[in-house]
Amino acid sequence: MKKILVTGGAGFIGSHVVRLFANNYPDYFITNLDVLTYAGNLENITDLEALPNYEFVKGDITDEAFIDELFNSKNFDAVIHLAAESHVDRSILDPMSFVKTNVLGTGVLLNAAKKYWKNKEDKLFYHVSTDEVYGSLGETGFFTEETPYDPRSPYSASKASSDHLVKAYHHTYGLPIVISNCSNNYGSHQFPEKLLPLMINNILHSKPLPVYGKGENVRDWLWVEDHARAIDVIFHTGINGETYNVGGFNEWKNIDIVHLLCNIMDKKLNRVEGESAALITYVKDRAGHDMRYAIDATKLERELGWKPSLQFEEGLDKTIDWYLANDEWISRITSGSYKQYYDQQYTKR
Ligand code: NAD
Ligand code: DAU
Repeated sequence: MKKILVTGGAGFIGSHVVRLFANNYPDYFITNLDVLTYAGNLENITDLEALPNYEFVKGDITDEAFIDELFNSKNFDAVIHLAAESHVDRSILDPMSFVKTNVLGTGVLLNAAKKYWKNKEDKLFYHVSTDEVYGSLGETGFFTEETPYDPRSPYSASKASSDHLVKAYHHTYGLPIVISNCSNNYGSHQFPEKLLPLMINNILHSKPLPVYGKGENVRDWLWVEDHARAIDVIFHTGINGETYNVGGFNEWKNIDIVHLLCNIMDKKLNRVEGESAALITYVKDRAGHDMRYAIDATKLERELGWKPSLQFEEGLDKTIDWYLANDEWISRITSGSYKQYYDQQYTKR
């Protein structure tokens, strides 16, 4: 039985990844390691608890003694590393927690893999990263795997550092690795500090819709289950040492996506046309706000045969329906410390 450590599996993308692996590969044993920060939530994965090939372990990737003991006792064959601090605005407020989790935490995992993996050839360290490491684009062009790194926020700088560490352990110690750099994900179970769930939640509760700056920044959106499928494909068929870009071929200006959400939700909530859009409020721009991200994911399609399965309109429809059906999930996870963060973010703008 192949033993796989997935880190960050109680978070948004990680929960979809552990679900896919635990259900589709009964001959793999999945250890889901997560420290359960504000973004990690066991409710995201209750359906997995009864599976015989799955376990949850609460623990911190920055705790070297704990990670060493885990590697020593579990004899993992592979790691899929997603645990991270993931929200750009929080990295602007508190950069050091991003350095700690994303840089130090990745280093601790790499070091344990180097120390405990004797026959390295049979092992794999899969590092899940972001397109933000490439910086910001003008009106044209795409990020390819050859685009030089140019991270510009504390979040993207910490992810770029972690990517470099992973590559360094490959070149220096021969650790088998793959890295994927993905664009903006959307779908169920995303913490409602990120654009889409924040807007859906605020539309539902008729709260202001805070659009940063002029709303002209562009992001490339990918359905989270398609990202999980890409991770599956890269994990199984990616070439040792390679990087793969993952994207939706689906660019949107923020303001256009907010209008689209408003129109769809007016219909779903039986509101008069324009009622939700009236909530749009332009607020102070994010510091150092990257203008445009756009991923060229043709290497992944050409070499490994992956492409997005879902049209954006269909994915958005499913996503909105999930949040409407899970309003209590949002209420629970946004009570407590999130409320403080939200007020700090938006009341002063
Ligand atoms: P998330 O914030 O929803 O989840 C992160 C998870 O990591 C949480 O469950 C949290 O509890 C856990 N975690 C944080 N610190 C930890 C620690 N010290 N030890 C153990 N667990 C810890 O993040 P997400 O959006 O699901 O992103 C997952 C990964 O994918 C991240 O590495 C992120 O950089 C990358 N990524 C995200 C996106 C996106 O659009 N969300 C796109 C590309 C890449
Ligand atoms: O590109 C991949 C990255 O996408 C991931 O690596 C990050 O983990 C993930 O958080 C995401 O980063 P972004 O900063 O692009 O996502 P966010 O949802 O925070 O913002 C999307 C865009 O919407 C961005 O241009 C900022 C804008 N925005 C965001 C929020 C939360 C607003 O205009 N208003 C808001 O309230």
